This record gives sequence, C-alpha cells and structure tokens, in this order.
Amino acid sequence: MKKFSKIALSVAALGLFIGGCAVVNGSSDITPESLSLRKAPVHDENIKIQKVNYIKAAPGQAKTFERSYVNAPPLIPHSVEGLVPITKNNNACLGCHMPEVAKAMHATPIPKSHFMNFRPTEVIAKDGKLIKKGRVVAKVNGGANDVYATPTHGKLYPGRFNCTQCHIAQSDAKPLVKNTFKPDFVTTKEMESSNLANTFDQGVDTTK
Ligand code: HEC
Ligand code: HEC
Repeated sequence: MKKFSKIALSVAALGLFIGGCAVVNGSSDITPESLSLRKAPVHDENIKIQKVNYIKAAPGQAKTFERSYVNAPPLIPHSVEGLVPITKNNNACLGCHMPEVAKAMHATPIPKSHFMNFRPTEVIAKDGKLIKKGRVVAKVNGGANDVYATPTHGKLYPGRFNCTQCHIAQSDAKPLVKNTFKPDFVTTKEMESSNLANTFDQGVDTTK
C-alpha cells in the first residue's frame, strides 16, 4: 500500500509539473482529469476495466480483416472462446492453421516464416570462441551482421508457438486515441496475405 501511494504521489507530482509548465506557457486549462487517457483524476487509482464484446463469429463464419500494413500479423477475425489461453500442452490454433490441415479447415495456413529460425544458434567452442550456426541467407558487414533463416523442417519454430502474442482477438473497444495511420500497399495481395519469408532480406546489401 505504501509503495502504491508513492507511485500515486509521483504521478501527481508529474501532473503538477506539467500543469505548472502549461501555466508558464500562458494556458491554465490543463486539469488533473485531462492529463490521463481515461479522463479521471490522476490521483484516483480506482481503475474500472472497460466492458467490451469480443467477436462472436465461430472460426469458419468470420470475415478476415485487411492487413494493418505490409507483413503485419493478421488480426484474428473469429471468436477465440475456449481456444485461449494457449498452454504448453494445448494449442488449439494448430489444429486448424497448420499448413497440412488448413486447406481442409478453410483457414489461412501458418506461413513459411513461422517455420524458420531467424536467430543463429550460438555455441562456445573449446577455445572459448563464439561460433554462430545456421543458414546464412545474406552476408552483411563481413560476417558481423549476417541474416540467418534456418528452416525448421516442418516443425513450428518455438518462438511462434504463442500465437496470441502477435495475433490479436478483436473486440468493439473504442480506441482512447484516434488512429490516423494509413498503410501503403504496393499490391492488393499484400492487403490480405503476407510473404515475409520471401522478402525479409529485401534491401539488405549483400555485397558487403
Ligand atoms: C476450428 C478451426 C480454427 C481454430 C481452432 C482457429 N482458427 Fe483461426 N481461422 C480459421 C478460419 C476458418 C479462418 C478464416 C476466417 C473464418 O472463416 O473464420 C481463420 C482466420 C484466422 C486469422 C486471419 C488470417 C487472415 O488471413 O487474415 C488468424 C490470424 C487466425 N485465424 C488466428 C487463429 C489463432 C491465433 C487461433 C488460436 C487462438 C485460431 N486462429 C484458431 C479457423 C480456425
Ligand atoms: C512473434 C510474432 C508471431 C507469432 C508468435 C505468431 N505469428 Fe503468425 N504472423 C506474424 C507476422 C508478423 C505475420 C505476417 C508476416 C509473415 O508472413 O510472416 C504472420 C502471419 C500469419 C498468418 C498469415 C499467413 C498468410 O499467408 O497471409 C497466419 C495464418 C498466422 N501468422 C498464424 C499464426 C499462428 C496460428 C500462430 C501460432 C501457432 C502464429 N501465427 C504465431 C507474427 C507472429
């Protein structure tokens, strides 16, 4: 509790500081309420979680969203009820999205990029030297910044297991701040699918 009020105090102090600056600048209409995104006084820490409704359409009944930008992780267009949380022993997403089953399930297959290791495997040799192993797809800076993409031979790269870390279920939550970002797409295909595995070394100068 003590720790908590300290944080509240420093937040309030920051508020005073910003408020003070505003007065110096000739505007005094910044109130403690207007400082926070939730439009509540900064010293009121009684946060109420907004009630939101998640998409109810079952997988197979949903309409996919346009990609947020080129190679953005697609948003989950269907309900994830009963599918989350993903655990070590239970990842229902795989049952429909693994490439070998996806077509039959009418689901987008997990792309090639998720079956690659973009990090080198680092081993310390007997002489203490660091050795990097893996498939180098582009030599950069004489070996110092090489681009790696080692195929995992049909086994999902473990760093991709927790799908909802990057792919997000959608709700009707009202954004606190209006998003004015507009993506640029070169082809219409990029609006509905991704090809990162084919393009990740785009622009990498391989001559150095
Ligand atoms: C019962 C099968 C099924 C399960 C389980 C499932 N999905 Fe899907 N998913 C689909 C289908 C089918 C679509 C295509 C849209 C539709 O028809 O609902 C889809 C669409 C998607 C898309 C959008 C792809 C695009 O091209 O825009 C993402 C992302 C996604 N699912 C992620 C997930 C994640 C993450 C999980 C686990 C939490 C999951 N799905 C579980 C069947 C499934
Ligand atoms: C570390 C972040 C991350 C994780 C974890 C992850 N993805 Fe992705 N996913 C992406 C990104 C970024 C893209 C778009 C670029 C690309 O093609 O790789 C993508 C693309 C996709 C696509 C669209 C493929 C297409 O052809 O358009 C599907 C489907 C998908 N992921 C499913 C999954 C599923 C299912 C899981 C869990 C098993 C998962 N992803 C885990 C980041 C992630």
